[in-house]
Amino acid sequence: MWCAGVLTIFPEMFPGPLGASLAGKALAAGSWSLTVSDIRAFATDKHRTVDDRPAGGGPGMVMKADVLGRAIDATATDDRARLLLSPRGTPLTQARIEALAAAPGVILVCGRFEGVDERVIAARGLEEVSIGDYVLSGGELAAMVLIDACVRLLPGVMGDEASHAEESFTEGLLEYPHYTRPQVWEGRPIPDVLTSGDHGKVAAWRRAEAERLTKERRPDLWTAFLRRFRGGAAG
Ligand code: ADE
Repeated sequence: MWCAGVLTIFPEMFPGPLGASLAGKALAAGSWSLTVSDIRAFATDKHRTVDDRPAGGGPGMVMKADVLGRAIDATATDDRARLLLSPRGTPLTQARIEALAAAPGVILVCGRFEGVDERVIAARGLEEVSIGDYVLSGGELAAMVLIDACVRLLPGVMGDEASHAEESFTEGLLEYPHYTRPQVWEGRPIPDVLTSGDHGKVAAWRRAEAERLTKERRPDLWTAFLRRFRGGAAG
């Protein structure tokens, strides 16, 4: 079973949205497991302190290496990847999510405050990952995003397995536009080709639309796509 272990100072945030919808059903069905550890439980002073002032001065607080180190040692006792959610991390991609979903699971450390003492990142082999170029108030929501993206890829979790192959990013292109009945809505018809019954034409139209949208919205992905699939330069 795919196992997510989460270390946080806000254990009450979990499972949160992961307890609903697809991930929640899969959790209840035993397709994956979630273990949440309270970092604060590994503090030793009577105030259960998990953070301290930054060495060298400056604003904010830093998560203490000794407390977090003990929390990791007690929780991460197998060889699952240990990731620290951080805006400073390597951006997550669908390819990385696929690799993590295929592994036995993940250990996710949720950062808070200004950051985590650098020594514990090095000493416990934490790999920093980011969910995007914006700053959240902590790693918890980012951890949920990562888990959700993995869980939907687990075998048997998503009903229509075929839809994986066609979705955004799997092929390096954004997804084509979707339509369903009514045939005309507020004067806007469904494109004729989609109701033509010609599967070849439908596939060609979708492909062209996926390429058009990718080129327009994500020139970075379009360039990467061209390099990967055509061996050529961006056009
Ligand atoms: N913690 C705060 N911001 C984050 C981000 N963008 N990604 C991952 N973890 C974070």
